Amino acid sequence: MKKINQTLILLTAALLLAGCNQAKKEIVKKELFGTYKGGEVYLLTLTNKAGNVLKLTNFGARITWLEVPDKDGKKDNITFGFDTFDGMIAGDRYYGAVVGRYANRIAKGKFTLDGVEYSLPINNGPNSLHGGPEGWHSVAWNTEIPEKTEYPTVRFTYKSPDMEAGYPGNMNVEATYTWTDNNEIIIDYALTTDKKTVFNITNHAYFNLHGAGNGDILDHQLVIKASKFVPVDTFLIPTGEMRPVAGSPFDFTTPHTVGERIGEAYDQLIYGGGYDHTFIFDNAEEVDAAVYEPVSGRFMEVISDQPGVQFYCGNFLNGTMIGHGGKPYVYRSGLCLETGHYPDSPNHPEFPSTVLNPGDTFKSRTIYRFSVK
Ligand code: GAL
Repeated sequence: MKKINQTLILLTAALLLAGCNQAKKEIVKKELFGTYKGGEVYLLTLTNKAGNVLKLTNFGARITWLEVPDKDGKKDNITFGFDTFDGMIAGDRYYGAVVGRYANRIAKGKFTLDGVEYSLPINNGPNSLHGGPEGWHSVAWNTEIPEKTEYPTVRFTYKSPDMEAGYPGNMNVEATYTWTDNNEIIIDYALTTDKKTVFNITNHAYFNLHGAGNGDILDHQLVIKASKFVPVDTFLIPTGEMRPVAGSPFDFTTPHTVGERIGEAYDQLIYGGGYDHTFIFDNAEEVDAAVYEPVSGRFMEVISDQPGVQFYCGNFLNGTMIGHGGKPYVYRSGLCLETGHYPDSPNHPEFPSTVLNPGDTFKSRTIYRFSVK
């Protein structure tokens, strides 16, 4: 009898352990999504203890699905993406991607470092945008699922070769995503180089708190803790001015809907075709930006150690991109809060430096936190 009991206890323990391992494994599910230039592309499904799902892919180290509840507990995906890998390849290049080497524009695709002029691919009017057409958004990164982490975690790494898209230095890039039980996406970046270079790294996720593909974002209430922003010319290149937001439609230090002042005849709204500008974080508070959508009650907070954020409200979206569930992403149906340095900084010594030296590591963290109220 005693022996039977002992066996039973051992068996139960073994089963429990197997169950735990199974549960542990399941917090990050890795599936083949496609292949790109000979490299395997995976879909990674991260499920937190609240049962909410974040999907990532190593193609562009991107976020492709984020399912969180509204105030009644109804879940929906609130970020842009595609159901299939073929759809992603054919679709918008930047949805949810990590953008580099230089996120946003470099004027005329030229900059000078230690007396040497570098030329970059021109892919946006006369300028270079988002690291050129073959930037970090369009390569298959390596995928690691670190063990023994508190929350579901995926680390993407990429070796960017010397002179890739015209930029000097072999760079090692890491973007680590952690999906906490508190519904926070924590993105940790780490960059090193073996030659002096410039960089600007960001994540280009589009959000619509009604649910991706469910109307526009003009009713989203936005706060950005920024008393200054970076005005641009008609090609969206900074003029060098850092203009106070006070008294202008760029003052989001208190909540305003995106749509409230977007049609005003203010020079920068005309040049940008709406909001498409870097806001300079005051860095006085923990939360740097927040978005509230009153119908669903969804609330998103952005916390970052980067110097600013590109607030882009989907002015170039035109409904031709068909995303998850066959839904078209129409004009201004998504907003991006891309934390990072200012556009064209290598040509603006008055902006915070984007130079990275050999031996130094650039480390940075951005958190997107989701809740309801
Ligand atoms: C944003 C940029 C926009 C547009 C978009 C990609 O980062 O601010 O002007 O280029 O990327 O469509």
